[in-house]
Amino acid sequence: MKNLILIGFMGAGKTTVGKLLAREKEMLFVDTDERIVSEQGREIPDLFSEKGEEYFRDLETDLLERMLEDTDQAVISVGGGMPVRERNRKLLRSLGLVVYLSATRQTILERVKNDGSRPMLSGGDLERKVEQLMREREALYRQTAHIDVRTDGRSVRQVLKIIGQETRKFG
Ligand code: S3P
Repeated sequence: MKNLILIGFMGAGKTTVGKLLAREKEMLFVDTDERIVSEQGREIPDLFSEKGEEYFRDLETDLLERMLEDTDQAVISVGGGMPVRERNRKLLRSLGLVVYLSATRQTILERVKNDGSRPMLSGGDLERKVEQLMREREALYRQTAHIDVRTDGRSVRQVLKIIGQETRKFG
């Protein structure tokens, strides 16, 4: 099978779901944030503060380009901002089947409110930031994904089951 790629807003559950999905399907698990941190030897907040967002976005694009050459049969969880660039949206769809893990603003807020590790949400009014970014990104997530799986009120197990059912339709 091709790669399975999980996209969605921060706090949508991409990493948690991705790890379990990979284990269930006996596939390799790749998390683009983790790869970038290990390759750069710096945490994401440090990369943002030292080099800026555009630099981080370039690293994301570069990683996707390399994965297109060398990654197969993997579950790939990507950072929430990955589909913002048009080039990345194309690369993601070329890499495999793209699953959008969606959630309402309330659910996202609950999941990210005590987490200080996300520079896109740090400083200022969290609710407004989440609302604005979700508004900017929602359509981009939808146009990138082959499959949309809502996660609100669902356990990880239920989400995994739905992903299994939906991906089977793609053979
Ligand atoms: C970002 C999401 C983060 C990480 C970085 C930027 C974003 O990943 O890539 O902080 O712009 O949405 P998660 O979605 O795994 O939190």
